[in-house]
Amino acid sequence: MAAKILVVDDDPNVQRGLEYTLKQEGYDVVIASDGAEAFRLYGSEAPDLVLLDVMLPKLDGYQVAEKIRAEEAGTRHVPIIMLTAEREVEQKVRGLRAGADDYLIKPFHPAELLARIKSLLARFAPRGALLARPPLGRILAFYGAKGGVGTTTIAINTAIALHRELGRKVCLVDGNLQFGDHRVFLDLGLDRKSIVDVVTAPAMDADLVKSTLVKHDSGIDLLLAPPTPETAELVHPAHLPEIAEILAGMYDYVLIDIDKRLDDINLGVFEAAAVVFVVMTADLSCLKNVRLILETMSHLGYPPAKTQLVLNRSNAFTGINVKNAEGALKRTIDHQVVNEYRGAISALNTGAPFMFGKADSALGGSVLQFARTVDKPAASATKAVALR
Ligand SMILES: Nc1ncnc2c1ncn2[C@@H]1O[C@H](COP(=O)(O)OP(=O)(O)OP(=O)(O)O)[C@@H](O)[C@H]1O
Ligand SMILES: [Mg+2]
Repeated sequence: MAAKILVVDDDPNVQRGLEYTLKQEGYDVVIASDGAEAFRLYGSEAPDLVLLDVMLPKLDGYQVAEKIRAEEAGTRHVPIIMLTAEREVEQKVRGLRAGADDYLIKPFHPAELLARIKSLLARFAPRGALLARPPLGRILAFYGAKGGVGTTTIAINTAIALHRELGRKVCLVDGNLQFGDHRVFLDLGLDRKSIVDVVTAPAMDADLVKSTLVKHDSGIDLLLAPPTPETAELVHPAHLPEIAEILAGMYDYVLIDIDKRLDDINLGVFEAAAVVFVVMTADLSCLKNVRLILETMSHLGYPPAKTQLVLNRSNAFTGINVKNAEGALKRTIDHQVVNEYRGAISALNTGAPFMFGKADSALGGSVLQFARTVDKPAASATKAVALR
């Protein structure tokens, strides 16, 4: 298989030149124009080597190299060559300290670049291949304690944050089988494949599931809900857990957005999930439902930590504050997402999630903070393995 090289440069001419040279040599090429995109593609494309320009928008080359090395946490090592216009020794040292393996000063001869690439690939590839990180395979359920509390908004934007900001491989499943909203939120037509294509096939396997997924521009993969409420009946309770397990073998995170019904389908999702995020707002009917859900989860024998409460629109005035809610539920609210009606509704109505484009809004920041907390156990586990 051809080695895959991630080229990171914001200059389209340099991109084209490098792409041409590398493809001539038989390499696969992926291109990023800024530092944030570089880190995201590093996570989703698993390149064998990175060619990294220093001067980049968003994150500079040093920061990207540092982020990549932190993410790898010693469990593998993708070689990085820094491309720099600077000649000073100090800059070279900085690049190497940030985690680069080699550097080239622009302009350089293509032959020199190719020689360095070959040598680095030979040095790192066999070991890298052996230690390539398996997917985390964590299944997360997003369950609305009541309709309209923002479950879909949070599931979609958390999925995008986990991928784009934290470099995870993510699949999002619309488990709201009758009235799934992901096509609306993500501007996708009814002609796209859905879970119905999986469950009506003669046999289910990873290739079938893969061929049914829809790629979103943000880089996450989607398994859409049936196109009509009638076809939802084709999905049986055993299907979603089976599909989720297959997806868990391919992704770091599988997020399943489900509605408030406590039926066999949703109970199957609870069973498959590592964590059930119960999305709620601070009002009485939600508090009543959350109490019933917590009781049900306890009757089902799940440990308390499996259920985590997410208070959406946490700073909206409802007359019930976080303390009141915690008192009524006799437990802490685990996460909060701020209220920003305009941001949320305009994202919905334009089909462009706020995490993909307006990630620096208050709402974007709040969901990113949530995503970081969700990812924390996995991030610390990787670091712990590296330290051992
Ligand atoms: N943090 C927020 N701040 C302001 N408005 C929000 C927030 N989260 C969601 N909303 C708005 O609340 C409405 C319902 O959101 P959403 O469809 O995500 O909820 P849901 O719980 O999935 O609903 P359903 O029960 O229909 O599946 C939308 O108009 C959305 O824009
Ligand atoms: Mg919804």
